Amino acid sequence: MNIDILEKAFQKTKTVFPVAKPSCTIILGSGWGNVMDVVNSRQTLNYHDIPGLGMPTVEGHSGRLFISESAGLQILVFQGRRHWFEGSGWEPIAIPVYISQKFGVSMLILTNAAGGINKKIRPGNLMIIDDHINAMGSNPLIGNNDSIWGPRFADQTHVYDPALRKMLDQAGNKTGTPLTHGVYAATSGPTYETPAEYNALRLIGADAVGMSTVPEAILGNAAGMRVAGISCITNTASHTGSGAFSHKKVIDIAANAQPAIRVLLAEFLKEVVTNVFHIQNHT
Ligand code: HPA
Repeated sequence: MNIDILEKAFQKTKTVFPVAKPSCTIILGSGWGNVMDVVNSRQTLNYHDIPGLGMPTVEGHSGRLFISESAGLQILVFQGRRHWFEGSGWEPIAIPVYISQKFGVSMLILTNAAGGINKKIRPGNLMIIDDHINAMGSNPLIGNNDSIWGPRFADQTHVYDPALRKMLDQAGNKTGTPLTHGVYAATSGPTYETPAEYNALRLIGADAVGMSTVPEAILGNAAGMRVAGISCITNTASHTGSGAFSHKKVIDIAANAQPAIRVLLAEFLKEVVTNVFHIQNHT
């Protein structure tokens, strides 16, 4: 990974948000685009204006960075993500994580749409990611061991912060949002899985599968941030038995879940303010 590219991206962002003091970042995946409000529309930056990032090439990923506020926290919102299968290398995937770290963000929330592999998980369900399986055939930390990413051999015991997972559960209870927990497997994509691949992923312990999130989680954890991940389940492995499956269906199902997700995230951020940042009397 070329750290100079990441640094240029941060410098540009800093000039657009000179006084920003975000403590949290959220990366919005397929169909999640509208769950955070833009607080000040003058402070938005298109990904194509961030050197090295580039516009997402996947429908449903608008490619805008803005600052949102919730429960008194400033939040960097990356509306849309770049993926490994887009073929532009690891830099566009690492840039949101790098920028966040440089702004002093301590908490990274990753969201995605995913296929349900565990038969108990149904389309429309939200799954808190407890752990992951990197089945991408690569790793964003291959290459130079830049100091921002910590030691050469990054510990993976608690990639997804246990305290944040508990706070998501609490937010789910308070808002009446049903949540499940599970292991997310990431493949490189861009193909969906064959029936045999879904079965193989089930056998190795995956509850859901997608084409993102794992690299950002690896990088965020390596950079010392607390990481949380939430999947919106948009299909099941058995969809293969009932006709063709498409990205359009993924976006539609995730979009239907947005109202519930908005409420959940707002409550979760209140939990975070109380439990992580210890700020009292928030609204
Ligand atoms: N496989 C991989 N990625 C996905 C899926 C899936 O079934 N659903 C949504 N993203």
